[in-house]
Amino acid sequence: MSAKVGFGIIGAGMIAALHARVIGELSNAYLVGVYDARSDAAKKLADQFHCKAYDSFDEFLANKDIEAVTIAVPSGMHGAVAIPAAKAGKHILCEKPLEITLEKVDAVIQACDENHVLLSPVFQTRFSRPVQMVKEAMQAGRFGRMVLASAQMRWFRDTAYYSGSSWRGTWKLDGGGALMNQAIHMMDLLLYINGAPGEVFAFSGTLTHSIEVEDNLCAAVKYRNGSFGTIEVSTSCAPGFPRRLEFSGSTGTVAFEEDNITRWEFANPLPEDEAIMNELSPGKTNAAGGRAPMNINKDGHARQIEDLANAILHGRRPFLDGREGRRAIEFICGIYESARTGKPFYFER
Ligand SMILES: NC(=O)c1ccc[n+]([C@@H]2O[C@H](COP(=O)([O-])OP(=O)(O)OC[C@H]3O[C@@H](n4cnc5c(N)ncnc54)[C@H](O)[C@@H]3O)[C@@H](O)[C@H]2O)c1
Repeated sequence: MSAKVGFGIIGAGMIAALHARVIGELSNAYLVGVYDARSDAAKKLADQFHCKAYDSFDEFLANKDIEAVTIAVPSGMHGAVAIPAAKAGKHILCEKPLEITLEKVDAVIQACDENHVLLSPVFQTRFSRPVQMVKEAMQAGRFGRMVLASAQMRWFRDTAYYSGSSWRGTWKLDGGGALMNQAIHMMDLLLYINGAPGEVFAFSGTLTHSIEVEDNLCAAVKYRNGSFGTIEVSTSCAPGFPRRLEFSGSTGTVAFEEDNITRWEFANPLPEDEAIMNELSPGKTNAAGGRAPMNINKDGHARQIEDLANAILHGRRPFLDGREGRRAIEFICGIYESARTGKPFYFER
């Protein structure tokens, strides 16, 4: 029998069910148990996926069969469970955002380093084939000089999405609104593909929901490579539309709608370009998470959890580690700081 990593899940809410399903389907992982502060939630998920339910965190951490944990508690509590898990020697897959401030992110990274456990913050979209193709095209220099890298998310979340949760829409536990919670995957891709930001100027507001955090935000960015970009994100745009990302250089432009590529055009086309467009552009893109929070394709999570399990089994680093996961939080915190002060924010080199 091939080797498998035993996983435990911390937090048994909406995204945890996807973690449990994916772990059960992988050939290099299996689900040992689930812990939730609410014992009924842990029991329900454990019954569904035939594993052990825990209502004691200490007992959960004491189970030696649990080599790795996935963290699926509210965002501002990630560090509070990740640090004890790292101290107990568990490798960690942590849902996005890794934490909601850079101080808390750094404390998690430090705890994982000191306890020699692997840390992989979830950014499942990085694992998609279209994203990897664009990254390769960028590395191969096909875009020429980068000039623009922009993101647009016109999504919709209804009143019940926020009012039905004790933590969504709060600064303390969500750490922000449309940008920190929903658009964070796009921020990660802007940085992954186009590189680090240099400066940003932003406006934000709470226009259609009764929440503390922003439901709309606009920003202008100058990246360190000299290119520019705009960021427009919203959870107010009924009925919700596919999110869009666009990267343009002097010799090439690529655009995404959700995970599909809708433009793949280069001044110097290659013979394989037509096949790439045919494969990665499967007709009309549906609004996916733009309308329904749980409309998440499980493939990205599957690839990321599989990668972490392989990293554990083969003693290597995960494809996406804590320092990579930190970059989007640094970007978002800088954007919020500009919106708060009404001044440009300059990122440290
Ligand atoms: N990668 C993605 O696309 C994606 C999608 C959805 C959610 N998420 C992230 O997953 C996390 C959870 O989101 P959700 O929508 O599943 O939330 P949820 O509210 O549905 O579930 C959270 C669960 O955590 C439990 N909990 C709270 N505090 C706890 C503690 N200290 N210890 C143990 N359990 C605790 C709650 O009882 C609840 O069952 C968030 O950080 C969110 O940003 C990521």
